[in-house]
Amino acid sequence: MHHFLDINQLSRVELESLIDKALSFKSGSHVETNKQAICATLFYENSTRTRLSFEIAAKRLGMMTVDLDINTSSVNKGETLVDTVQTLMAMEVSHVVIRHQQEKLILELAETIGQEVRLINAGDGQRAHPSQALLDLTTIYQYKQKFHGLKVAILGDIKHSRVANSLQNALALVGVSDCYLVAPPSLQATTNRIGIATTDIVEGVSDADVIICLRVQKERFESDEALDFDAYREGYTLTEQRLKLAKPDAIIMHPGPVNRDIEIDSDLVDCSQSVILEQVTNGVFARMAILSGLN
Ligand code: CP
Repeated sequence: MHHFLDINQLSRVELESLIDKALSFKSGSHVETNKQAICATLFYENSTRTRLSFEIAAKRLGMMTVDLDINTSSVNKGETLVDTVQTLMAMEVSHVVIRHQQEKLILELAETIGQEVRLINAGDGQRAHPSQALLDLTTIYQYKQKFHGLKVAILGDIKHSRVANSLQNALALVGVSDCYLVAPPSLQATTNRIGIATTDIVEGVSDADVIICLRVQKERFESDEALDFDAYREGYTLTEQRLKLAKPDAIIMHPGPVNRDIEIDSDLVDCSQSVILEQVTNGVFARMAILSGLN
């Protein structure tokens, strides 16, 4: 694997091997350092977890890291993404982690730029967030030690969620078929990759092993889209009562950032079944697995 662009580029064996590698880094296995490498982070959209965890992962692998502040960069003088990346390559940057609002731009960049630099997709528009899917599956595997036979409920804004897209692709790849996508009609995707789309949170959450709440992404709403938040809370917020419908050892996940008391009751974010901060921890190890696996 030269670039890390999409879950769909991976075979099941490759995905499982990245999960194994992430958990092995977590358990303290030896880290091969790569002091020649320079990893640049380019975030054209906001981020806390993804940007910092890629930076920490790169540093743990011995790489030099540089972050381009897009707001003060020559992007504001009209520089294209291709020209920016070629400029970084001229400074011998070897890995470029990119989050961009334009869907598939990183795929086009990979075609243009070839193999002289490694590109890592840190989220493109509403389409894909493959490193999030890797850390999510790493977290599920850490707690459940299997994928086969799990019931997974994904709750919330499926429509605007790149996390949901990559997650569904990854779950399908490892053989999870019992997946429920719970959202009001206005937040359902037009096409789902796996599972059953439902507006019934009881159907989705009952006997679930894993509940993944998604943020309502107001910033991605079109001008003609609106949400009645009181009705949303009534029908779709994960509450203690709804959690009781799931298996007693169900885990609660959320990619973050969390809108407390919208997609999930604030108390549940911090409850013993919540593994939300463990996802953040696993994000570093998953990204170490990605960066160290690129040839
Ligand atoms: N989950 C996620 O992508 O978080 P950030 O936007 O903070 O990177």
